[in-house]
Amino acid sequence: MKNLLGIEQLDADQIGALIENAERLKSERSRTNTFRPLEGETWALIFTKSSTRTRVSFEVGLNELGALPMFLSSADIQLGRGEPIKDTARVLGRMVHGAIIRTFDQTDVEDFATYSGIPTINALTDEEHPCQILADLLTMKERLGGWEGKKVAFFGDGDCNMGRSWAWASKRLGFELAIAAPPEFQPAQEFCERLGDSPVTITDDVEEAAKDADVLYTDTWISMGKEDESADRVRILSPYQINDDVVFLANKGAIVQHCLPAYRDKEITEKLLESRADEIFQQAENRLHAQKAVLVDLAQSR
Ligand code: CP
Ligand code: NVA
Repeated sequence: MKNLLGIEQLDADQIGALIENAERLKSERSRTNTFRPLEGETWALIFTKSSTRTRVSFEVGLNELGALPMFLSSADIQLGRGEPIKDTARVLGRMVHGAIIRTFDQTDVEDFATYSGIPTINALTDEEHPCQILADLLTMKERLGGWEGKKVAFFGDGDCNMGRSWAWASKRLGFELAIAAPPEFQPAQEFCERLGDSPVTITDDVEEAAKDADVLYTDTWISMGKEDESADRVRILSPYQINDDVVFLANKGAIVQHCLPAYRDKEITEKLLESRADEIFQQAENRLHAQKAVLVDLAQSR
């Protein structure tokens, strides 16, 4: 793998190998670990949007693998004043060894990879959030033994980055995905055409999505950049909240997952989140292990 731009660009073998390596890195994690494949390197984190988990997990992961993380908020570099991404890429490509980018447009991450020539990771765009999905798959493997034959049900804004990355994961790995969303927030036609044949079903019926589900998944109703639409989103998406009633409809043993940050009593009830905190914060921790596997893979593919 030369870059991680989206789940769309991966195949089942690549995903499976990343998850296996993440499990191994997780089990071998210790302060005295001498496996440092990125020793002497500097990796840039270029972030145009806020982050807690992604930033911290990448900074810690890079440090553990031997590299120096350099956090660059777009507000502090010339990118934020209008310098084109391709110029930023050509400068950084001559100085740092890899880049991790969180921004709005998917094309910015793609252009950065093209113009910089260094390994580039999508740390969330409006189109995809591949790092989150890899952590989620690791959690599925730990909690449910894998994804084969399992059903994931995603509730809320089905046309956001998480819904789209889940759809690609379902297509690549062959597990069932049900997206429960009102018509306004179902994956766009153009996206569905690109996805083509897949085990993804889209419904406005919460009960239908939850039935037989092994994973109940949600995300904020107001993705970064959509704050102006907050009132409408809360009103339209309210019936898609996950709560104890939704859990009752799912398979016995179903896990509850949230990529976080969570907005209590909006997309998930406080009660459900707190009663499933072990599962949800295991998922958050897995960001670190999954991303270390990505970094190792990229380093070894150069
Ligand atoms: N889930 C996730 O990407 O969290 P952050 O926005 O805190 O990085
Ligand atoms: N869909 C959310 C994910 C946050 C991790 C957003 O883009 O803000």
